[in-house]
Amino acid sequence: MKEKLLKLAKKHGTPLFIIDHDKIRENFRIFSKNLPNVQVYYAVKANSNQEIIRTLFDEGSSFDVASYNEFIQIYDQIRSFRKKDKDFFVWDKIIFSNTIKDRDTLKKIKKYKPLVTYDNVDELKKIKEYCPTAGLVLRLKVPDTGSQVEMSSKFGAEPGEAADLIQQAFGLGLNVEGLSFHVGSQCTNFDNYTSALHITSDIFNHSRKKGYKMNIIDIGGGFPVPYDNMVPRFEKLAKVIDSECKRLFPDDIELIAEPGRFMVATAAILISEVIGKARRDGKIFYHINDGVYHTFSGIVYDHWTPNFQTFKRGKKEVCAVVGPTCDSFDKVSVSEHLPGNLEIGDYLYTKNIGAYSTASTTKFNGFDGAKILHINK
Ligand SMILES: Cc1ncc(COP(=O)(O)O)c(C=O)c1O
Repeated sequence: MKEKLLKLAKKHGTPLFIIDHDKIRENFRIFSKNLPNVQVYYAVKANSNQEIIRTLFDEGSSFDVASYNEFIQIYDQIRSFRKKDKDFFVWDKIIFSNTIKDRDTLKKIKKYKPLVTYDNVDELKKIKEYCPTAGLVLRLKVPDTGSQVEMSSKFGAEPGEAADLIQQAFGLGLNVEGLSFHVGSQCTNFDNYTSALHITSDIFNHSRKKGYKMNIIDIGGGFPVPYDNMVPRFEKLAKVIDSECKRLFPDDIELIAEPGRFMVATAAILISEVIGKARRDGKIFYHINDGVYHTFSGIVYDHWTPNFQTFKRGKKEVCAVVGPTCDSFDKVSVSEHLPGNLEIGDYLYTKNIGAYSTASTTKFNGFDGAKILHINK
């Protein structure tokens, strides 16, 4: 593999972000095989690259979007469909999972009769006024203890408010189709899923008893990626989810999930290059041509821990790896065990960097960010 990467770096230049579409397909199939009753809605936010969308679209994925632009990105895939098929696709295969949508967005999506989430009464009123054609999914606040990125401090209705929010929606003439939650991204604490399913099933079964005909259970994202060997296996989690869903919900529900990271994290590698080397307070600083304002933005926004490997061998010591911008904040890592003999022009590579990386790259300081290369399309 190293030789292939080296060749690609020499041919295409660096920083080079290599997306392996075979790996995306493999991740999609692993997910679907282990959770055969769950329809996958890929969370576009994890990596919105259009080629990734196309690969997942071809695999039969549905999509979770958070903005009008993400929605249109998916809609572009079906522009050539007949009107009837387009309508069906939007209704069956897209969810707007951002619980807060501005009025303009709601006005624009009204004609598509979208499925949208909500978690508060003001949002309900807004949806009623600007997008009354929408089907609704109530997002619940659930435990997200220990997840890499917590969600419940910003999103989700308190379970105790759920019954009122469902009643209020129906009272406004809107239709609540189901319930959703998100246990936090890179969730390695599987108890979060079991608690969330319990909370959801209580509300779901209670609502059905009251005559509200909901049928969607959206188990969100959070499915963990094996960044290191401490991460518990997805297959184990899938078994827990599968058996809990069978135990807690009636047979006729429609189960959906919104995996983002799981589909794309392991499908990309970044090759960066040493552009400067200095000893500062005794420590080697490798200045590389990518940083936290660019492909390593996940360090800031995703609480992600980078990993580095080198093509060259040498005696290892604790080094810093820093980005190319003028900002001293642009430090990718202040403690990496790397060979001390790397020189300007040597390459480093970083695995499992496909999610929440290029998605939040900026153009800060005039640096373009990594070139994207697709393989195995
Ligand atoms: C509503 C929603 N669904 C799905 C996801 C994807 O989560 P993950 O990448 O952890 O699978 C996110 C991530 O932020 C989200 O906010």
